[in-house]
Amino acid sequence: MSAILKEPALEFRPMQSEDLPEVIDIERRSYPFPWTQSIFGDCLQAGYSCWVCTRGGVIEGYGILTVAAGESHLLNLCMRPESRKEGIGRKMLRHLIAIARRHDADILFLEVRASNAAARMLYQAEGFNELGTRKDYYPQGKGREDALILARTL
Ligand SMILES: CC(C)(COP(=O)(O)OP(=O)(O)OC[C@H]1O[C@@H](n2cnc3c(N)ncnc32)[C@H](O)[C@@H]1OP(=O)(O)O)[C@@H](O)C(=O)NCCC(=O)NCCS
Repeated sequence: MSAILKEPALEFRPMQSEDLPEVIDIERRSYPFPWTQSIFGDCLQAGYSCWVCTRGGVIEGYGILTVAAGESHLLNLCMRPESRKEGIGRKMLRHLIAIARRHDADILFLEVRASNAAARMLYQAEGFNELGTRKDYYPQGKGREDALILARTL
């Protein structure tokens, strides 16, 4: 008799402070200038919409969103490096869009590094438009890098 091997399902749930060691490990392996533990702690404390995506109990990615006065801002979206290109980032983004809509936001803004080809492709594919540039917004080595401001109506 052959066993039926079924991949565990993806689940979305609010981030908790107990998740921070796993989240910070992903964050540090993903960005040249990662957020610190206290930035994540502040987001949780402030009541921002902080979500993790899990599979079989393992955090595969996370996203942080603020919603106020009909506008939402995506502050962070990051997938575990080993689990990229599986469609999880797109699912997480769609989940956060649904949350923003649920809180009556009409628009979702975000900033992305000009050099971040993977994220730019994802956002473009999900209907974001470029509104402008924030010059020298991000640290980069000894210099700075521009941020692109993107938005999508909800
Ligand atoms: C950006 C990120 C969240 C995408 O997550 P992901 O789970 O790998 O993305 P998905 O598998 O859902 O891919 C969705 C789409 O994104 C684009 N994409 C993802 N990875 C890409 C890559 N390496 N190169 C080009 N396009 C890419 C493609 O358009 C893809 O659609 P397709 O598979 O139909 O071609 C992930 O690369 C990541 O965590 N990066 C580090 C953190 C980061 O830069 N976050 C964004 C900050 S603004």
